[in-house]
Amino acid sequence: MMQGLDQQLRQQAYEEVNKYREVVEADPYRLAYHVMPPVGLLNDPNGFIQYKGDYHLFYQWNPFNTGHGAKFWGHYTSKDLVNWEHHDIALTPSDWFDKNGCYSGSAIEHDGQMYLFYTGNVKDENNNRESYQVMVESKDGFRFEKKGVVLHLPEDYTPHFRDPKVWKHGEYFYMVIGAQSLDETGKAVLFRSKNLENWEHLGAFAGAHIGSFEDFGYMWECPDLFELDGQDVLVFSPQGLEPSGTYYQNLYQAGYVIGKLDYESIQYNHGEFVELDRGFEFYAPQTTLDEKGRRIMIGWLGLPEEREEDHPTIEHKWVHAMTLPRELKLKNGKVYQLPVEELKELRSEGVKYEAVNLSSKAQAFEGVEGDAIEINLETLETVTSTITIHIRNHANLVYNPTDKLFKLDRISYVDGETVEERFCHLNQLKSVRMFLDTSSIEVFINDGEEVFTARIYPDVEEKGISFAASGTENVSIEAWKLNN
Ligand code: FRU
Repeated sequence: MMQGLDQQLRQQAYEEVNKYREVVEADPYRLAYHVMPPVGLLNDPNGFIQYKGDYHLFYQWNPFNTGHGAKFWGHYTSKDLVNWEHHDIALTPSDWFDKNGCYSGSAIEHDGQMYLFYTGNVKDENNNRESYQVMVESKDGFRFEKKGVVLHLPEDYTPHFRDPKVWKHGEYFYMVIGAQSLDETGKAVLFRSKNLENWEHLGAFAGAHIGSFEDFGYMWECPDLFELDGQDVLVFSPQGLEPSGTYYQNLYQAGYVIGKLDYESIQYNHGEFVELDRGFEFYAPQTTLDEKGRRIMIGWLGLPEEREEDHPTIEHKWVHAMTLPRELKLKNGKVYQLPVEELKELRSEGVKYEAVNLSSKAQAFEGVEGDAIEINLETLETVTSTITIHIRNHANLVYNPTDKLFKLDRISYVDGETVEERFCHLNQLKSVRMFLDTSSIEVFINDGEEVFTARIYPDVEEKGISFAASGTENVSIEAWKLNN
């Protein structure tokens, strides 16, 4: 490793953190209980693992400005998935094989050590890309030693070949990589190894013209394959899907297919692609299996290239955040996402309104307001008219039981005026649980059957939340102030 450059980059990054600490801290949109960067741009969650008891979460980080660039791996740990501690930088783009970025990747524990795998991104003077998969060793989860390139770009793929996720199955380690084949279609490519160093190329097991997929985007980013309730779920972030009805409304998607991977024949029979999130900002999620046996997912509460430079936080020298950690469950052939149990620790004062009547005049309830709050609505099965939740004079949740559409709208952060909408179809609405932070919203419908995640930027003074129904509806509302 280039010690000199590594040290220099670390130093420069810490200087940025120190220089802008107060500017970032003074931002009223700074999040109260979500993981965000100390300065600069944060994107994908990387290397998410529970190691020696602690949860480690690394992140794609550009400390030098709020655009994309030569990424570092920043590092947070947590004992409880609620309180996060920021640590020294894990990786800097200091070597010939990662000089334009230590791109996304994953972590695995082996013989008591932590190993990271990431993509070394290299671009030449003409912007031609090279991609190297790199292994990193750590004896304690805090000091990291790059061991070098363990995988070169195989033929059949363009250099859009990245984001290794590694896991163990039987006697082998497996690695899935997000790729673009030479015909410019997205693929998930599989490798295996006995020692984490020598990787055997097994080929693409999912993607365009494989199994049930015809064309399905020009690139798949951040694949993650894991077992959930006896099924093999492949999560990935395809690029290049056209909007269709209420689906694929964002520039890029993140979702999954469910199937069974035959590790011998490398056949993966799977069902249809399902979007993980129906809101505005959600991308590149990564999962880990924790010591309690839970499959936990964290996503990037952001989206690449989608008006990133317009986020109001940029004035305060930072942009983007992570979603809350969510436990995944398989239910009726669908992946459900529930905020992890531990998040209840964030709750302080709570209020409960049982069997209240909502009507066309919007009503507020004492204790159900603020910018860091969890709100649960239940007994919604009986709703027969349109119900609306107005959030801080900026965003609305609306459910219309006639067309069975659930909607999140918000005022665009680009012009502060246009109302933007996202929808999902429900068979029945039962419950709505939402987490509001100073500038984000995560809505979990029917215990995680559908999720809407978004950044919102209401006026800082606006704290009001109100509820209305076009008919008369009887619901129960519970809320807690959240603090961290
Ligand atoms: C997804 C992604 C990855 C890449 C990383 C670079 O958001 O483009 O494919 O590794 O971000 O920061």
